[in-house]
Amino acid sequence: MTGPVRVAVMGLGQRGLQHLKALWTLQEQGAARLTALADAFPSNLEAGKLQNYVPGFRQKGILHTTDFEALLAQEPDALYICIPPNVHSGEVVRAARAGIHLFVEKPMSLYLDEALAMQAAIEGAGVLSTAGFQQRFDGRHEAVYRHLREGRRPLMACYTFHGPLEGHNVKHHQTELEGGPKNRVWTANRSWSGMTVVEGGIHLLDLWRYWFGDVEWVQAHYQHRATEEIQDGADNPYTYSALFGFSGGAVGTMTLSRLRKVYASHMDHQVMWTEGRIEIEGDGVKAYHYDGPYPPERSPEPDAVERSLYEGRGGDDTLAISQAFVQAVSEGRPELIRSPFGDAMNSLAAVLGANVSDELGGARVDVEQLIHAERYAAFRQKPT
Ligand SMILES: NC(=O)c1ccc[n+]([C@@H]2O[C@H](COP(=O)([O-])OP(=O)(O)OC[C@H]3O[C@@H](n4cnc5c(N)ncnc54)[C@H](O)[C@@H]3O)[C@@H](O)[C@H]2O)c1
Repeated sequence: MTGPVRVAVMGLGQRGLQHLKALWTLQEQGAARLTALADAFPSNLEAGKLQNYVPGFRQKGILHTTDFEALLAQEPDALYICIPPNVHSGEVVRAARAGIHLFVEKPMSLYLDEALAMQAAIEGAGVLSTAGFQQRFDGRHEAVYRHLREGRRPLMACYTFHGPLEGHNVKHHQTELEGGPKNRVWTANRSWSGMTVVEGGIHLLDLWRYWFGDVEWVQAHYQHRATEEIQDGADNPYTYSALFGFSGGAVGTMTLSRLRKVYASHMDHQVMWTEGRIEIEGDGVKAYHYDGPYPPERSPEPDAVERSLYEGRGGDDTLAISQAFVQAVSEGRPELIRSPFGDAMNSLAAVLGANVSDELGGARVDVEQLIHAERYAAFRQKPT
């Protein structure tokens, strides 16, 4: 392709604005050119609002529309779809059939049948695609990937996140007009978000897939919120425990909570291989492993076995994933994309499988069967 990649964005809410900022940077570098922005609500397209989030943004030459067909008529090379996962209405399929390369935010849908139709359209049209798993481009996570690839066999990942219920971001979709939460915090609501393992946990699960390979099975148990505790549609569970089994034999345990009146959060992320432990923190990655003659005469002190694998916060992964996607489109190089839509289906099915397992009383759910088997057909369907 000659010239900058012509890009459109659908959904200018929290995530779409972050992508707009990255794409504006790529436009200033000459790699991309914005052609159209679409949102369901005109107020989300006002110049002042966009400039607030993207300093220096100028709307001249960019179509602003509430009409998806008008966006398609611009014939962009690539389209970013950044809408809540329960409001898709065939846009991914239509864009793929129009030959447009697709960046689809995670979770690509809350319903496997709908996601499978998207996958079929993307693969049938032969367009490039990525799901929005930017954490694979975080320097800390790349360091873990390299470390494990040096012949180390991963055994287990443990991720804990306890976030205050009130800590959810206020979103931009006007959910109050569509029977959703009046405060626009749709991530706290089950039917909008698919619950927290699907909405937030999918990022961690996808990282584990990057490091360990595909998920084969999942088992989960949630503690559901009591009716009298539900305010303004915030009906997601209190706590989540999920165990994922990977093809190479590793497992991942995810423990999440979203409680009211805590106002403090806690995160811990550990990865074990057969002879060591990796700790991923906000400002870097450390590995703990004894490398001297074995057995040592005396037990080494903890700081003698500590080694830094990465220092820093990991860089701007939102910009990095867009750089890779835009370059892949421009140069026709699919290998630059780390999460093609079809590959990301295993991440999506694994977290949707956690919900199914919880609903079945903690039964083990085989991810391939969840995608294909007749006995799970009802779990794949989008409610009408
Ligand atoms: N990768 C990440 O780190 C990350 C971070 C946040 C959100 N997300 C994902 O991005 C998606 C969007 O989330 P968000 O936080 O931006 O939500 P949001 O509510 O802030 O924004 C969604 C936007 O989409 C618009 N929209 C909805 N339906 C539309 C339609 N039919 N046509 C045009 N515009 C439409 C809304 O008006 C709103 O502006 C979700 O799937 C979410 O999970 C990903």
